[in-house]
Amino acid sequence: MTIDVLTLFPDMIDSALSFSIPGRAQKADLVDIRAHQLRTWAIDRRGTVDDTPYGGGPGMILRVDVAHAALGALDHSHKAHRVMLSPDGELFDQSMAEEFATKKKLVILCGRYEGFDARIEKYVDQKVSIGSFVLSGGELAALTIIDAVTRLTPGVLGNAESLLEETFEADLTEYPQYTRPEKYRGMNVPDVLLSGHHAEIQKWRDSQRQNLERT
Ligand code: ADE
Repeated sequence: MTIDVLTLFPDMIDSALSFSIPGRAQKADLVDIRAHQLRTWAIDRRGTVDDTPYGGGPGMILRVDVAHAALGALDHSHKAHRVMLSPDGELFDQSMAEEFATKKKLVILCGRYEGFDARIEKYVDQKVSIGSFVLSGGELAALTIIDAVTRLTPGVLGNAESLLEETFEADLTEYPQYTRPEKYRGMNVPDVLLSGHHAEIQKWRDSQRQNLERT
């Protein structure tokens, strides 16, 4: 799968994605993630990509002509799934990540400043938010989405990790897990986990999952 990110801060995307699972996935050629500088499609040699809002008000608005030109250059017959990031978009979740993971090509448009000229919505397929809070820009949202999508790409996770992923997808809740030391500052690992009794352990884990669902 190919993921193209349009941003004013491509280094933010490249550096964060060089680590951990997304880094490994790229090295193994399982995903191809490219961050593009939006200023490449600026209207002048100074690299202008934004302007003041019509009707007045604070801040700067990213120009529709610049964003449209960038989208056209990266995906000119509109074969990709185009996503723009905005705090007022559709809320990103695991099922959206699964859907994105089925796409051959994803283009992600990151906003900055006060946002985009509203007319850009005509040229994207979906407006997505990662939560009800306002970030300084779409880059961290793009990274969140790319991380969640990349780990679902076939071949990216090892066997053990994949199994864990299946559990997670079937049921977003998890049971509590413990490792050594057995006792830590008065807190003990539950006896059942030390019992070696697999059926009892499973029963306990299921009961803990239900507890989590209730909260
Ligand atoms: N840009 C600014 N805030 C955002 C959010 N919460 N989700 C997606 N993009 C954003």
